[in-house]
Amino acid sequence: KHAKNVISPNLTTCHESVARPGLSVYCCPPKPESEEPFIDFQFPDPSSPLRLRRAAHLVDNDYIAKYRNAVSIMKSLPYDDPRSLLRQANLHCIYCTGAYKQKNSDIPLHVHRSWLFFPWHRMVLYFHERILGSLIGDDSFALPFWNWDNPDGMVIPEMYVTGSLVDTDRENSHLPPQVVDLNYNLQEKGLGPEEQIKINMALMYTQMVSGAKTTELFMGCPYKGGEGGFCEGPGTIELAPHNTLHDWTGTGLNPGREDMGSFYSAGRDPIFYGHHGNVDRLWEVWRRLQGEYYNSEITDPEWLDSYFFFHDEKRQLVRIKFQDVVNITRLRYAYEEVELPWLNARP
Ligand code: C2O
Repeated sequence: KHAKNVISPNLTTCHESVARPGLSVYCCPPKPESEEPFIDFQFPDPSSPLRLRRAAHLVDNDYIAKYRNAVSIMKSLPYDDPRSLLRQANLHCIYCTGAYKQKNSDIPLHVHRSWLFFPWHRMVLYFHERILGSLIGDDSFALPFWNWDNPDGMVIPEMYVTGSLVDTDRENSHLPPQVVDLNYNLQEKGLGPEEQIKINMALMYTQMVSGAKTTELFMGCPYKGGEGGFCEGPGTIELAPHNTLHDWTGTGLNPGREDMGSFYSAGRDPIFYGHHGNVDRLWEVWRRLQGEYYNSEITDPEWLDSYFFFHDEKRQLVRIKFQDVVNITRLRYAYEEVELPWLNARP
């Protein structure tokens, strides 16, 4: 059946957007994507290496050196190159500040605060990871994930604190050994590490289990294209720890807590990709937890057929649908199995 209210951008409409009250930004590509030919997404070869995403606090020095090298190269590419870090970051700026209008309507497209959140960010990471790998000639390269739902991962992982993975616009008082506040509301709670870890675990239980018993509660509301398709209702994890850690990481010296604290700038900080690695992983974890009770998959064709455009590692513009990213094995990546200590942290 034909899904008419699918979400997709109108690539001819990229325009200046409002980053926050008082700040306009222009994040569009230097040449309009609407003039570039695109291809439809193709799954990677099923016999290609499975990229294993590992916890950022558990990886070895060889991996860190490799990742840093890839990011340095990415940073050195010119803005013309869609693989450059600034262009990668600007994808987030474009889609999150409403720089595109939707196809067939004048309504701005936003990928937060609804069921667009998980699959759209999965696409960003998918292409980002493959670009990094290709820049260093490693087709098994995988992004790390910031395992902030595990007590051992509840600080900014060391790898991000030096070298090309640093961002100087992070909150100084939140650098290691400060324990993350997964429910940060711009106020310092001033708790000792053990107490903070305990309330972090309870929050994880709420967001993953007791507060996320339906697909809509976890994924967000069903945002559709066109008039009347708008909704605002973020899923549990999107609200916290996702949003809260963006704010917690960016420096309070900047008005929008840039870089991590604002949509337009978040992707400039390499930790953004580790943060979203964990968000993406928790989507998989949640599905597995639901599996025993009911079918948590979204089957609405208007979600499945929604499509976006990204440049791949060959700089080719690709059209990709949400239905293409529901199975991570087909995307040839996986997450290292780690414990889920919050499963027993019912408050
Ligand atoms: Cu598009 Cu972490 O946000």
